[in-house]
Amino acid sequence: MLLYPLIRPLAFALDAERAHRLTIQALKLMRQHRPPDFPESLKTTVAGLEFPNPVGLAAGFDKDSEVPEQMLTLGFGFVEVGTVTPKPQEGNPKPRLFRLAKDRAVINRMGFNNQGQPAAYARLMEDMHLPGIIGVNIGTNKDSADRIADYVTGVKAMARVAKYLTINISSPNTPGLRQLQDEGSLRALLSAVQEAREPNGPPIFLKVAPDLGEGEPDQIVRVAIKHGIDAIIVANTTVSRPLLKSKYRDEAGGLSGAPLKQLAVKALRGFRSASGGELPLIGVGGITTADDAWERIRAGASLVQLYTAMVYEGPGIAARIARGLARRLDKEGMASIAEAVGTG
Ligand SMILES: Cc1cc2nc3c(=O)[nH]c(=O)nc-3n(C[C@H](O)[C@H](O)[C@H](O)COP(=O)(O)O)c2cc1C
Repeated sequence: MLLYPLIRPLAFALDAERAHRLTIQALKLMRQHRPPDFPESLKTTVAGLEFPNPVGLAAGFDKDSEVPEQMLTLGFGFVEVGTVTPKPQEGNPKPRLFRLAKDRAVINRMGFNNQGQPAAYARLMEDMHLPGIIGVNIGTNKDSADRIADYVTGVKAMARVAKYLTINISSPNTPGLRQLQDEGSLRALLSAVQEAREPNGPPIFLKVAPDLGEGEPDQIVRVAIKHGIDAIIVANTTVSRPLLKSKYRDEAGGLSGAPLKQLAVKALRGFRSASGGELPLIGVGGITTADDAWERIRAGASLVQLYTAMVYEGPGIAARIARGLARRLDKEGMASIAEAVGTG
């Protein structure tokens, strides 16, 4: 991982999507080791799952579940694969992924390109023996006539191979998807999901957008609790455009990375005050350092996830942040992450 500063200029000389594909291919060749050991203080239990550390890989990096084991080996405390849709689909025309290096950000309008749930299921079956936590993020096909039916299909299709499932209703790149966050639609969706899940099935998380209006977190939390959702992931990419310097700043799609941080923290605080700690929260968006992760935990997140910072800082980032969090706990005289959640 010390090599990353050397590799990065080569990767950045390539088109972003090509660099991503090559990264996945290179990871496939990586020798499998046991994941690193982390201090006891980082162990944390959320929704009945025991995480070795609270720093996860966010959805979208390993859409087709090609390298979850490698990402666990690199030190991620958990890996979320997907988004996978019932049928394979191409996604949007290329180019659809842009690095905004000056802003330490990415804009993407991938549009759920993926090989479909059956392909991911077959790969995940082979990973069933792994002790690590691999969650599966599910979505709907672009041409679906019944979006709710697609989520029901996803829950039924992927439950057996997922340690947790994420209902993703927050991608800005599937037209109309985010409308499922509206109260009536959300109620219909989550009651269908509740009916589809097996009593002994995995916990189900809900992933929301950071671009919500006043009062929306309250509505979402109320409906989520009523329908047995186990945690909320806050948040996906933003369609807003804070001040950006890079030439790709006006590309359409979802913005992630450093410029998303403030908005993601604000959204997380909104969900924490709406839930009062009754529902676990997972903080995502612009997390680059242990300080960022710590701020999210203090704001109410039981776990965190990241994606974009790995593009800029390299794959060792998860282990670095995790160890930084352990030092932070020591310094504050706290014995566990759970003790720090929501204290700020
Ligand atoms: C290229 C790219 C693809 C993504 N694809 C997905 C996806 O398929 N499903 C999903 O729920 N989130 C997806 N995301 C959003 C991330 O999971 C995360 O919520 C967001 O990027 C904010 O975190 P970050 O600033 O650490 O990247 C994607 C993000 C990027 C940059």
